[in-house]
Amino acid sequence: MNRLLVIVFGILITIAFSWVGFVYSSYLQLGGLEHHEDEMSGDSFPPPRSGIAQRGSLVYREMGCVYCHSQQVRRPGYGADDERGWGDRQSVARDYIGDRTVFPGIRRIGPDLMTIGGRESSREWFHLQLYDPRIHTEGSTMPSYRFLYVRRPVVGEGSPRALDLPEGYRPPEGYEVVPTPRADALVEYLLSLRMDYDLPEVPADD
Ligand code: HEC
Repeated sequence: MNRLLVIVFGILITIAFSWVGFVYSSYLQLGGLEHHEDEMSGDSFPPPRSGIAQRGSLVYREMGCVYCHSQQVRRPGYGADDERGWGDRQSVARDYIGDRTVFPGIRRIGPDLMTIGGRESSREWFHLQLYDPRIHTEGSTMPSYRFLYVRRPVVGEGSPRALDLPEGYRPPEGYEVVPTPRADALVEYLLSLRMDYDLPEVPADD
């Protein structure tokens, strides 16, 4: 009987210590983080994401992009992230505070996307990458997300939003491919992924 009490007590103490170590101490360190206000311009960093970009982050989550793409840049000198052009400073906790769900990721089958909105700026480029990654990279192992696009008969002059697909990917004559609202939201989210601002804890040239 005495042993049972010791075991139960031991288990409780272990759980309590882990909780304090992992949850409470992190909360004490980072729970009070706020957006950084730039005194000169009055802007707040990281800049808040637009509503459509926030909806796009739900599509990102749903599509499982995080299984292949990380969103965390390592400090220059600690890996080749800087040389690969994925960001000229490391990402820090404050970079993520505006998001309800963060996607730091644990695997990099594809490139890190923390700064992809600064590396590519054309919506059309992102749509083509999602429609079929083989358009940009021959033999790409990234899955195609064609189901986020609709193929429909051209009416009149056709939609100005129709994708300008290269030879071999074009729909048959008389059809066009246009993004669904989910594809549009996902692209706005990808465009909002950028780290082109400074934070006091990590200067850009660090
Ligand atoms: C099975 C792994 C895999 C999944 C899942 C995946 N990707 Fe990729 N992605 C890759 C690979 C590999 C590349 C490298 C370039 C290429 O092959 O197209 C890439 C490249 C990219 C690029 C271009 C990056 C650059 O630096 O040029 C973007 C943007 C991108 N992926 C977005 C996404 C989004 C958004 C999703 C989810 C809808 C997604 N990926 C899902 C593997 C994946």
